[in-house]
Amino acid sequence: MDRIIIFDTTLRDGEQSPGFSMNTMEKLEMARQLARLGVDVIEAGFPISSEDDFEATRQVAKQVGTLDGAPSICGLSRVGLGDIDRCWEAVKYARKPRIHTVVATSDIHLKYKLRKSRAEILKASVEAVRHARGYCEDVEFSPEDASRSDFDYLCDVLSAVIEAGARTINIPDTVGYAIPQEWAERIAKIRERVQGIEKAVLSVHCHNDLGQAVANSLAAIRQGARQVECTINGIGERAGNASLEEIVMALRTRKDFFNAEVGVRTEEIFKTSRLLSHITGIHVQPNKAIVGENAFAHEAGIHQDGVLKEKLTYEIMRPEDIGRPSNKLVLGKHSGRHALTARLKDLGFALEAKDLDRAFTAFKSLADRKKEVFDEDLVAIVTDEATQTEVAYALDYLHVLSGTSVVPSATVRLRSKDGQLFQDSGVGDGPVDAVLAAIDAITGLKGTLQDYAIRAATSGKDAVGEVAVKVSFDGTVVSGKGSSTDVIEASARAYLSALNRLVQQKNVHPRKEVGP
Ligand code: KIV
Ligand code: ZN
Repeated sequence: MDRIIIFDTTLRDGEQSPGFSMNTMEKLEMARQLARLGVDVIEAGFPISSEDDFEATRQVAKQVGTLDGAPSICGLSRVGLGDIDRCWEAVKYARKPRIHTVVATSDIHLKYKLRKSRAEILKASVEAVRHARGYCEDVEFSPEDASRSDFDYLCDVLSAVIEAGARTINIPDTVGYAIPQEWAERIAKIRERVQGIEKAVLSVHCHNDLGQAVANSLAAIRQGARQVECTINGIGERAGNASLEEIVMALRTRKDFFNAEVGVRTEEIFKTSRLLSHITGIHVQPNKAIVGENAFAHEAGIHQDGVLKEKLTYEIMRPEDIGRPSNKLVLGKHSGRHALTARLKDLGFALEAKDLDRAFTAFKSLADRKKEVFDEDLVAIVTDEATQTEVAYALDYLHVLSGTSVVPSATVRLRSKDGQLFQDSGVGDGPVDAVLAAIDAITGLKGTLQDYAIRAATSGKDAVGEVAVKVSFDGTVVSGKGSSTDVIEASARAYLSALNRLVQQKNVHPRKEVGP
């Protein structure tokens, strides 16, 4: 059986799309989870693009790329030699560093974007690959916009870069233009025509503009591609990249058809998807394949009847295959630390003692408010707590007055990282508006809500509410997520998590202090 290399670009292509940006800490947290998921390569960033991206890539290489059994850590660079030097500086700490160099090969890009001839681009590609090979063996080359590149010219470039030492040849459908059958033919022809192709791993990188990214990637695998580039939840430029979970589960579920296997631990998929949503503050759509809320829900009576009689009637995968909580009643207010630890372990969370303390406190407070605590509730609070480390401001106290005949008002107290308390109040046209006004009054920052979404983690009137926000602070857009059985509190937490990201990026300080 052939082994497919899973190249995850959530932290590079995924992260570069608006609303999905992550700071170094968040990238590190995601990278650790991607390593637990068992991806083969993590593309951690585009080091030349900014100081932050350089630092994030470097930290991922140092802290995740050096773990036992760590994936390869890859950085992206254009073909400029300075870009490649910078990329190497960031990835060199990893046990398995990779330099991924890219340049466009379509005439449209050559003429309008690069203003270079085909010969100039071919020469620059070869020089770039040779230069990168001076640093490491693992060099990947991508001809950007390959799906719209002249085929003969594309093959000339690919043959030349393999000769120069490229070990992975990645064919991107940069604008999501390809159609599966056509794409499969192109990949098959590349295998036939490119000289030395047997010395390189053939890879694809498909965008989803026409909704074909996963189909195109799978069609390429059928034609001998042995690496796929993909992202968690399918995030990425415009309509996104091919979704990792869909590719992996298609390969696993239809092993009979693909005759290929992957090294991914599928039981980690759901957790990874949730962590990404949590970090970016963006939920996946309910009908999203594999990780969407409804992906395993059988609503129609006739389906439910079939599933009750025999799961095979309508179920091609089991929720537990992707580590999806069973949604059963697990714990109550009398459950102790051991029970919580054991259940979290079953759900795949191996928390360190201090994180467990925080999770336990959050669980107790949840169990006080909510009769029944489900697996989904636990996942919500644990991912919430996991991203609360080292925050600039935590919610300490919240009092809200609201109703049909009063002006909504709120008093908020925040606790800073060093334990100081800050308190203020605000009014608004609703309780959420009043709470956010109070937070703004404390911090001296003025956030404008660009997006606000709320959903219940489980069913029932006492369900945990998960709020996701996108907030603009003076033009800088940051997202955040918070959960609580009280949706006003969840809103405050979501807004604070967005604000904490801003504080981390811009180093802003609070204004007001209240004595103990
Ligand atoms: O879409 C694209 O062409 C890319 C390359 C860098 C592979 O993201
Ligand atoms: Zn891309």
